[in-house]
Amino acid sequence: MSSKLKRNQYCGQVGVADVDREVIVAGWVHVRRDLGGLIFIELRDSTGRIQLAADPNRNKSAHDKLSTLKNEFVLIAKGKVTKRPEGSENKETATGLIEIYPDEVEILNTAKPLPFQLDQAAQVNEELRLKYRFLDLRRPEMNNVLKLRHRVTQAIRRNLDDNGFIEVETPILTKATPEGARDFLVPSRLNPGSFYALPQSPQLFKQTLMISGIDRYYQVARCFRDEDLRADRQPEFTQIDMELSFTDEEDVIGVTESLLTAAFKESNIDLKPPFQRLSYQESMERFGNDKPDLRFDMEIKDLTEVAKTCNFKVFRDNADAGGVLKGICLKGGAETDPVSRKTLDLWQDFVKLQGGKGLAWVIYSKEGTRSSGIDKHLTPEEMEQLQKLSGAEVGDVLLLVSDKFAAAVNVLGRLRLKLGEERGLIDENRHELLWVVDFPLFEYDEKEGRMMAVHHPFTSPKLEDVEYLESDPGRCRARAYDIVYNGCEIGGGSIRIHDQELQSRAFQAIGIDREQARDKFGFLLDALESGAPPHGGLALGLDRIIMLLAGCKSIRDVIAFPKTQSGGCMMTQAPSAASDEQLKEVHIISNPPRKETPKESSVEAAAEALR
Ligand code: AMO
Repeated sequence: MSSKLKRNQYCGQVGVADVDREVIVAGWVHVRRDLGGLIFIELRDSTGRIQLAADPNRNKSAHDKLSTLKNEFVLIAKGKVTKRPEGSENKETATGLIEIYPDEVEILNTAKPLPFQLDQAAQVNEELRLKYRFLDLRRPEMNNVLKLRHRVTQAIRRNLDDNGFIEVETPILTKATPEGARDFLVPSRLNPGSFYALPQSPQLFKQTLMISGIDRYYQVARCFRDEDLRADRQPEFTQIDMELSFTDEEDVIGVTESLLTAAFKESNIDLKPPFQRLSYQESMERFGNDKPDLRFDMEIKDLTEVAKTCNFKVFRDNADAGGVLKGICLKGGAETDPVSRKTLDLWQDFVKLQGGKGLAWVIYSKEGTRSSGIDKHLTPEEMEQLQKLSGAEVGDVLLLVSDKFAAAVNVLGRLRLKLGEERGLIDENRHELLWVVDFPLFEYDEKEGRMMAVHHPFTSPKLEDVEYLESDPGRCRARAYDIVYNGCEIGGGSIRIHDQELQSRAFQAIGIDREQARDKFGFLLDALESGAPPHGGLALGLDRIIMLLAGCKSIRDVIAFPKTQSGGCMMTQAPSAASDEQLKEVHIISNPPRKETPKESSVEAAAEALR
């Protein structure tokens, strides 16, 4: 810094205790106000803001300097801290009781007019914010999120260190890992025609480390997945990844609960482990998904009993074919906050959009019971039984779906979440963590036309289910666990297979033969045969945790330099075209001619064209 002044205090840390002390502060001009001769500047740094003032009668040169300042100019100022005159204090902020009339001011840098004003960023199109991310991150909200992220990561590191974990870095240039998403590929200059894959997770390396005798491993690991993006997904994201040897589910769950308790404390949230546990099956039955939001009730009720015996063809035929009748009860939907006919039609449309066949409803009001027509087909006793089984009372609305089990609970689970949000049923002050356990090991994938691992193929089946691996793989449950926070999956893991014979059987169950297994994970199979200890672990999605702790709606708000929905970085303009020279070096010939800035991954497109 060419300045003769050197900062000796942060703006946000100057307080009443500093009155009469001379300080040197530095930062950005947040706002300038000219009030009849007096000029006020709010100077901002990473800790907060302080008011600088200039009076032409007191110090003309300081006043002249301040009068030339524009927003986001960078300056350093020296002066005595004074109490603000009575009536002009701002009691809301820590530095609102004091101000500085600087004796010396130096402008360290100017700033051209901004593409958007920092305090109006909330109204600004996100792409513009991302393009000028260096400005966007100057906003105290964004700065604070990055600080929270730092504190949470540090708390996690301390906690894992205290629990005997050591941090090991694993490669970024590696081979494909089987997490189920598409890989990002990097061409190898030294090995013509060969590609590295960026890791979707350090799964295989962390298992290898257990076999290498690293008893407890962790890593703040960057992972890469070329998948369709959503509000809670990024193509590169960070996991708190860990693995333990000579372990079981209880150890991993205990370690994770301790870690999350330490992490949430940084956001002043007191968690009280142990967290509750739900089996996958129960979660599907009661909430229609495997990441239930427990901040509100409205659980799915089973009403199939009525469907099985009634004469209403729609319900009866479905039940006879093995289907179910399920319902959710909206408390107060008939009285306190009545639902209109139009709203019911909108919910009906929503259900159909989600792939449901339709939505039946019953309104229980003081004037009597009305329905979408089902009371014409059901006897009064059957109507009464519906009410009893669903727990509906006068004042409530019952919403019903008749379908196959998976379709019925799925659609009602989605409707439950929609109503929870729309009708303000979610208590935002609640922090509901739970474990979902007893997942199926495999599930049938329609697109692939075969069984696939629900988590990944290294997950151990429950010991009592091993016998079904060949005869009835769909019946095998996994030694896997997911951790869910307020309806969002924030982590998952499992106890792994450490026996190479069992690993081969698991591969075969999902159609990976010995040769393919060798080709893809040969080193792991070798390692499993070389004295592999029982082991297991878990990975937490750090970005998602921070997003929820910071109350952000998008994961992009907690990542310093995130990607857009189409996988691009607005600031650097990545991905971008490579020069012919660069392509030649990595043995890629582009054909047809490359576009200037391809929207698809340039590497993938180039890989296709490899001759
Ligand atoms: P999994 O694939 O479940 O497990 O990932 C663990 C956690 O990482 C987060 N996550 C993501 N966050 C942001 N963007 C994404 N695209 C994204 N994908 C996943 C989620 C998820 O719960 N190797 C296993 C872990 C193990 O078995 O130990 C794994 O990666 O919060």
